[in-house]
Amino acid sequence: SLIRLEDYRPTDYLIDTVALTFRLHPTDTRIVSRLSVRPNPAGQTGAPLVLDGDDLTLVSISLDDAPLAQDAYTVSPSRLVITAPPQRPFTLTLETAVNPTANTKLMGLYRSSGVYCTQCEADGFRRITYFLDRPDVLSVYTARIEADADTPLLLGNGNLVEAGARADGGHFAVWHDPFPKPGYLFAIVGGDLDKVEDVFITASGREVKVAVYVEKGKSERARYALDALQRSMRWDEDVFGREYDLDVFNIVAVSDFNMGAMENKGLNIFNDKYVLASEDTATDGDYANIEAIIAHEYFHNWTGNRITCRDWFQLCLKEGLTVFRDQEFSSDARSRAVKRIADVRVLRASQFPEDAGPLAHPVRPRAYKEINNFYTATVYEKGAELIRVLKTLIGAQSFRRGMDLYFDRHDGTAATIEEFIACFAEASGQDLAAFSRWYEQAGTPRVTARGIYDAGNRTYTLTLTQETPPTPGQPDKHPMVIPVALGLVGADGREIALKTADGAPHDGIVVLDTAEKTITFSQVDSSPTPSLLREFSAPVILDIDLSDDDLLRLFAYDTDPFNQWQSAQTVATRIIRRAVDDIRAGRTPQTPDNLVHALAEFLDARATRDPAFAAQVLALPGESDIAREIGSDIDPDAIHVARKTIRAGLGRALADKLAALYNDLAVTARYRPDAAQAGQRALRNAVLDLLTAGDPTRGGALAQAQFDSADNMTDRIVALATLTHVAGLACENALAAFAARYADNPLVLDKWFSLQAMIAEPETLDRVKALLDHPAFSLSNPNRTRALVGSFAMANPTQFARPDGAGFAFVADIIIRLDPANPQLASRLATAFRTWKTLEPGRRAHAEAALERIAAATPLSPDVSDIVGRMLDRA
Ligand code: ARG
Ligand code: ZN
Repeated sequence: SLIRLEDYRPTDYLIDTVALTFRLHPTDTRIVSRLSVRPNPAGQTGAPLVLDGDDLTLVSISLDDAPLAQDAYTVSPSRLVITAPPQRPFTLTLETAVNPTANTKLMGLYRSSGVYCTQCEADGFRRITYFLDRPDVLSVYTARIEADADTPLLLGNGNLVEAGARADGGHFAVWHDPFPKPGYLFAIVGGDLDKVEDVFITASGREVKVAVYVEKGKSERARYALDALQRSMRWDEDVFGREYDLDVFNIVAVSDFNMGAMENKGLNIFNDKYVLASEDTATDGDYANIEAIIAHEYFHNWTGNRITCRDWFQLCLKEGLTVFRDQEFSSDARSRAVKRIADVRVLRASQFPEDAGPLAHPVRPRAYKEINNFYTATVYEKGAELIRVLKTLIGAQSFRRGMDLYFDRHDGTAATIEEFIACFAEASGQDLAAFSRWYEQAGTPRVTARGIYDAGNRTYTLTLTQETPPTPGQPDKHPMVIPVALGLVGADGREIALKTADGAPHDGIVVLDTAEKTITFSQVDSSPTPSLLREFSAPVILDIDLSDDDLLRLFAYDTDPFNQWQSAQTVATRIIRRAVDDIRAGRTPQTPDNLVHALAEFLDARATRDPAFAAQVLALPGESDIAREIGSDIDPDAIHVARKTIRAGLGRALADKLAALYNDLAVTARYRPDAAQAGQRALRNAVLDLLTAGDPTRGGALAQAQFDSADNMTDRIVALATLTHVAGLACENALAAFAARYADNPLVLDKWFSLQAMIAEPETLDRVKALLDHPAFSLSNPNRTRALVGSFAMANPTQFARPDGAGFAFVADIIIRLDPANPQLASRLATAFRTWKTLEPGRRAHAEAALERIAAATPLSPDVSDIVGRMLDRA
């Protein structure tokens, strides 16, 4: 059934306190819930009390401690209705029984490698007990957890208030969280785990015990996560003035988790992939992800927990904002320019296709069938871009004042986007009504820029136009408020001081808030090259009439590193697109000299000055970037060959420089995961990749040597990946050596599964199918499934979209098989089809058939049914 934003109304009852008792048992856990309920003054008097449930068994029920008569309520696994509750405060006591071992959906209370844990967002709390399971019902929780001696560690939200032994040989712990919160932030953990711990002193001098809990024997691998947590805590004090508010902050890593991590109050639960790291097992990228996700979940304590969402339509209120905050944290901890490039790459790779296809939805959706399908790149990544746009529009100072006002005014409440924006309107004195449209309107605006230089008047006139294409349910679009950060670069490569037509200084931000806008700059002495959308100042597609030579001038001279990178990308994209056309027309593509010269100069003069940045330049656009640019009638094989051919040409032309760099860039110091060393490794490995593209024999030899001698996972896995590029599945020895070395490390084996699934050759599908039977593989573990099937579907465009349709059919089979056990995971996999309509007709027909087959499967979860239905335009 469809849930609509406009239908929101407050609950008829409120729940002020929740006292839970868990008797943990692998197959028959009992939960006693004592709720203090009262009629909501904002609700409807005399209404029945309707509590949500999901797969629940009610054992007993009483009201004010007297058993409730059978005819006073109705109950099913998914609902408990008290027909005529007292119209005064009362206590409702419920006992439910659940089976954590059989809980394969990983929502509610489940067991992961023997550890009891919970996942309640978005609607998992109702799988533990009947409740008003929605984010605007805020209660103070106490949780008493009882368990046998084999489960020594018992954790809950808030502070530990009591613990001790029980007569039956077991023990208990009582946790109390003084901060009112919705059920989705509730969590408990029971297990036998190791930990690393420390003390954090807050800015005001409060002592907080911080700890990270992991599987026995792995605690050393949690040190980096603990350090990242402490750095996040300090950063939020320094940059946003936000202090932590409890006596303890615990993080628990589990090995079966549907998403990345969860911000439960004082008790974050993590996918162990985003906690465990050592130089031998984790790449530099893994370290960066751990740092970002630890920060993200910690930052939710204020943006998400202290202030939560009124309803799930407001999801971006906490997610977009918190992504923005974690991006800023990583920018401060590492290189701002490189972080920006990486984030924009992610936005374009994950959000732009969503916005351009059948799953497009506004950052604040207006309706949904299954909320778990709206934890999307649009809500998260585009949501974060909107915060950045807001900050650009009103300025850093007003932005900070607005944040302060938001924290001040809405602390302890469940808020809306309107309330959030009102704080910034007030703090800045600006009318933000037009800006708000970003939250309502789906689709990526396309901005076109045309400039004219008038030598006689020494003026440069820039005309910007915008257009947003129709998206499902939104045929007509309004203009958006688009801040275009810009500069003018002179023929000599120097930045031209911006002056408006009347000679006043201009701040370099043109706000395009109408369909078309023209601005004239004066006192421009020679024809300039415009550098537009600096730092990617808005989530739009920019269409700019610059020649390749103009762009390469920006690559060399722009003061904005983002646009330096962007200019090289744009030129490379054009070149590869032309190569695609050549290939489809039976011609042999050529690598043009202009890009070769530009890169040669770059390698000589600039690459080693900022290696992490240089690595981003050398990576060139990926196959999916090219596909997105082409937009329709896509032949993934042609794109693959085109990109490979152009890169081979570059690799050959630059071979000597690349080989020299590869030697010079070797890291001799002891491994550190910091940005500087990681950047050097990234560049060296990007150099190896390009070198190998030009000369597979030479590159393969270097990769083999690197594979044999690497002292860290980054260099080892890149070497192995390079070997698979050279020899495909024929590099059996290296693959086998890697698997043997890491036979006991599931997270590293995930990399091994993933690498094989990404090989762009026709044998890959059979290999992937065979790997389903590998002893280390399991469809019930989300990380394993994402590594093998997810990588094949999302990161192997030529084989997923095989011309014979076998790739699509295979992934459809897996989705159908997985769905009954874990619908959230199945539905995520199904989004791999989201660009199916952009394919050439043959492949498109195969994709459609696969989708139809999924749609016809019975039973089909609401999760998959929603995704596939929208994909087939049957929303
Ligand atoms: N709030 C979590 C985060 O982004 C994500 C949890 C999503 N879980 C889900 N089942 N939809 O930090
Ligand atoms: Zn989040």
